Amino acid sequence: MKRTHTCGQLRADHIDNTVTLCGWVQNQRDHGGVIFIDLRDREGLTQITFDPDICGADIHAIADRMRSEWVIQITGAVRSRGDNANKKMATGAIEVYVTSLEVLNKSETPPFEVDEHSKVGEEIRLKHRFLDLRRPSVQRQTITRHKITKIVRDYFDDEGFLDIETPILCKSTPEGARDYLVPSRVHPGEFYALPQSPQLFKQLLMMAGYDRYMQIAKCFRDEDLRADRQPEFTQIDIEMSFVDMDDVMQTAEGMVRKVWKDLLNVEVGEIPHMDYATAMLLYGSDKPDLRFDMKIVELTDWAPTSGFVVFAGAVENGGVCRALNAKGAAKDISRRQLDALTEFAKDFGAKGLAWIKIGDNGEWQGPAAKNITEEARIALGERMGVENGDLLFFGADTEKTVCNVLGNLRVELGVNRLGLTKSGQWEFLWLHSAPMFEYDEDERRYNSVHHPFTAPYPEELEKMETDPANVRSLSYDMVLNGVEMGGGSIRIHQPDVQARVFKALGISDEEAEEKFGFLLDALKYGAPPHGGLAFGLDRLVMLILELDSIRDIIAFPKTQKARDLMSDAPNLVDEKQLKELSIISSAPPRS
Ligand code: AMO
Ligand code: AMP
Repeated sequence: MKRTHTCGQLRADHIDNTVTLCGWVQNQRDHGGVIFIDLRDREGLTQITFDPDICGADIHAIADRMRSEWVIQITGAVRSRGDNANKKMATGAIEVYVTSLEVLNKSETPPFEVDEHSKVGEEIRLKHRFLDLRRPSVQRQTITRHKITKIVRDYFDDEGFLDIETPILCKSTPEGARDYLVPSRVHPGEFYALPQSPQLFKQLLMMAGYDRYMQIAKCFRDEDLRADRQPEFTQIDIEMSFVDMDDVMQTAEGMVRKVWKDLLNVEVGEIPHMDYATAMLLYGSDKPDLRFDMKIVELTDWAPTSGFVVFAGAVENGGVCRALNAKGAAKDISRRQLDALTEFAKDFGAKGLAWIKIGDNGEWQGPAAKNITEEARIALGERMGVENGDLLFFGADTEKTVCNVLGNLRVELGVNRLGLTKSGQWEFLWLHSAPMFEYDEDERRYNSVHHPFTAPYPEELEKMETDPANVRSLSYDMVLNGVEMGGGSIRIHQPDVQARVFKALGISDEEAEEKFGFLLDALKYGAPPHGGLAFGLDRLVMLILELDSIRDIIAFPKTQKARDLMSDAPNLVDEKQLKELSIISSAPPRS
């Protein structure tokens, strides 16, 4: 080894030892002839001291020229810093008086300081990700991710799960996003798809008798990216045989409990359950943020009597009227903010955003206040528990639009505008029993809410052909603080039920055979009842570290536009490569 200790290791106990350290120069300070350097590695910082009387003039001269990010090896004696001890540094009690030095490598002036406090844009950080990854906070996050993965693997190993790898070059798996395709050279014109998840393979492993499977699996989805979505991401993927919903939920919950306990020493209690219909009604969302209350109030029966045409009209047209009460928020939200919130609501499909402010004197103000009758006002006041200082927001439209608008508005108000959430809050929820299907107005057909292998409630199977929109699935998502952290379901294990689901989705027998023939085949040869779940590992790490973006906890993430700024992927390839793959590009030449 080139070193005896790391830069995070030395304490008062080591005083008088001779040690060798390697690392990067964090900064260099010249205090009248004595030069101090903070030497950095993964484990921390150590102050090293170049006193010309101890290290000699030659080494001192090199130290004088030394700049940030040079890589050096030093040997010297550990000394007490006495009264100058730095309590903020783990190694702050000591310093190392250098007696020998080797410059292992110099560094050009980096495009930004490798320092927690240097404020640089994400683009420049991602372009030089190898420097960004040197930042102690980023290193701590990366190390935490490793720890979580280890806890997870150990947990599932203890529970009797087998870690089994599944292919990356495979046939398309329908999780709802676009596939990334890989052209085959040996089969001109044919393509592999990168897996959107190992869904079908893990089911096949159950059919093959492996009983309990787990994998930390890479998944690929070509979809619109957001702060919690990357084109390639990692799942903690599990599948179990001979189980029902509660068994899978209990097992997954056990994992979460262990991760939170081992990492944060936080006890996660029994996770509450809520069904999809309740969540949509009360929170307008299939991932309710339970860190604050502010439930949506149903006013559809009140709206026709309100005297306000906007509300009454929506209900007359078969829609709903619902509202939120932002308690005590009247004074916190200015007129300008109300206009901004109206635009926000419009982004989610609202035609407008009626609001009412109740002044400290009890006066009702705002566009909707003027329009409703006195009687309706009193009824509304009771229904919504209105007090002076409250601020009400209304949605009147189709049920889907109202849920979407008020659901998003609720989070915008609670999290961003009113600051009703705080650090260290962990509000877990199991959201279960989503509908099997949702109707796609544009395509005029049903899509799966989860995926086509999700089992329906057996007692609702009879409605599959007559009333598919009202068949519920044996599905469950784990939500944490308003983010979907994981999801899964009990699967279909009977070929006839699978065929009926494909039919409801408008998938013909031929198409089913062509796409999923191997699965249908396996179902015929003794498939056990089975179910499973996948957590988004990146999201879990993001949430537990209370970060805003999963890019922070992926070593080499892609941008919102699915580009790797460091290596500049995707990129154009040689004409020759395309030819070998029998591909002709129709993209316009790059300017
Ligand atoms: P689902 O599609 O819900 O289910 O994905 C499971 C979990 O993966 C995470 N996730 C993502 N994380 C980052 N970037 C993305 N683009 C992304 N997409 C999904 C989420 C999500 O909860 N095969 C099923 C699981 C099953 O039924 O067992 C599946 O993939 O945290
Ligand atoms: P109007 O009568 O169109 O001027 O609208 C009166 C108020 O109702 C305005 O504050 C609008 O933003 C709001 N509004 C209009 N349509 C809707 C709707 N569908 N749901 C909720 N509020 C609405």
